[in-house]
Amino acid sequence: MTATNPNFAEQRRHLARDFHRPVYHFIAPASWMNDPNGVIHWGGDYHLFYQYHPESPRFGLAYWGHAVSEDAIHWRDLPVALAPTPGGPDATGCWSGSVVDNDGLPTAVYTGVGPQGYGQQSQCIATSRDGLLNWEKYSGNPILSEIPNLAKQSTDLRDPMIWPEGDSWYMLLASRIRPVGGSVFLYRSPDLIQWEFLHPLLTGNYAKDGCVWECPSFFPLDDKWVLIVAGKGRKIPFTVFYFIGDYVDQQFQPETSGILDHAYFYAPFTMEDARGRRLLWGWLREGRSEEAHVAAGWAGCHSIPRELSLRNGQLHMVPVPELKRLRGNPTQIRDIRLTGGDHHLEIQGLALDIEVDFKLEGTVGLALACAPDGAEQTRVSYCPKKELLSVNRERSSLGQGHETFANEAPHELAPGESLQLRILLDGSVLEIIANGRTSICSRIYPSRADSRGLRLFGKGQLNKLSVWPMRSIWQQ
Ligand code: FRU
Repeated sequence: MTATNPNFAEQRRHLARDFHRPVYHFIAPASWMNDPNGVIHWGGDYHLFYQYHPESPRFGLAYWGHAVSEDAIHWRDLPVALAPTPGGPDATGCWSGSVVDNDGLPTAVYTGVGPQGYGQQSQCIATSRDGLLNWEKYSGNPILSEIPNLAKQSTDLRDPMIWPEGDSWYMLLASRIRPVGGSVFLYRSPDLIQWEFLHPLLTGNYAKDGCVWECPSFFPLDDKWVLIVAGKGRKIPFTVFYFIGDYVDQQFQPETSGILDHAYFYAPFTMEDARGRRLLWGWLREGRSEEAHVAAGWAGCHSIPRELSLRNGQLHMVPVPELKRLRGNPTQIRDIRLTGGDHHLEIQGLALDIEVDFKLEGTVGLALACAPDGAEQTRVSYCPKKELLSVNRERSSLGQGHETFANEAPHELAPGESLQLRILLDGSVLEIIANGRTSICSRIYPSRADSRGLRLFGKGQLNKLSVWPMRSIWQQ
């Protein structure tokens, strides 16, 4: 068994007993994974690549894992697409990047990390002549290793995002300008090989949005352009930001900005699929100690792809409707008055899709993954006074080694607007989107196998609650 052709099915079967492992979110067969990369619609299928360390559940030597899907929900493992070449410009890792259709030739553009370590970042390309299965690295790699003068104090230059415009290719690379903040640099090329640096497309503010940016995505949406970046630094935790504005003559003028997710969603990747939808994926980080995920034998998974649009000038996101194919028979409740205290529901499970609509009077919410005696539970609530959505994890687990702080997001409702939550619970994954515009992706690790209950709480009117048990996307 080699790193590139392990028995993925066997690995999946082996880990399937772990109830913290998601069953309907994309996850590597085992070991460590992080960013989604190079998603492309090719020959009617979605091809997903991802940062994968097949040897260990710790971050390390990065490969490009590969999976294929007809609907962006059901995935089938394919052999590893890119592996580091000893002594080559990607000897220490094949980091994140994109795949483009270069006149019929699938071409991956990615960041290689050289033999000297993570500080040696350059851009490399590889092509596939057999429908994205086998990839041949370009003999002239790296195609770009020079850091622009204005960023010379840094070694960060990575995560190429590429699009065609006019007769040229354009590329964004993520970096930083010290001491100002994270930045994305714009390049142009006639052939994907010769790249000319144009200018920074946008530079942030290190205290607000991180000292380095990663994983840029830039695309037209309705009549605007949107830039999404992942930012991190000493002053802010890993956070994904978006900017909406106009793009004219290669200059981007942002008008609005916001936080795309308020917790564990990181390393965004977007693509336009064959149906013209702009889809967004993210890496869902772990919320537990390295020791804990090493013991589990796996770490990281991806969000359900979200379809993006603009509503009232704001970014709007919904999980792709194809997700509904996994739904079993729903439990539905309508028009109940909540008068305080917990209201226990019949339905149970750790793989659920939930839609709930509340008319507010006071704080309301839903407790998930509840033990029958309530000793373990995770409380998702909204306080209209504070206009705050939160996930309280103080009692999520009686176990050790996981994060217990609350995940919180400001969330304003328009006069008369009800609170609409879409909640995707899947083992340790909790994706929450409020009114299509506020997102919290949290992680929880209940210790008890009977922590599967659901409760409503708070004061107000429950207009409607629908809960669907979800099927696994893997054959076990
Ligand atoms: C983001 C990131 C990228 C990099 C990759 C390495 O999570 O740090 O900037 O390419 O992960 O795995």
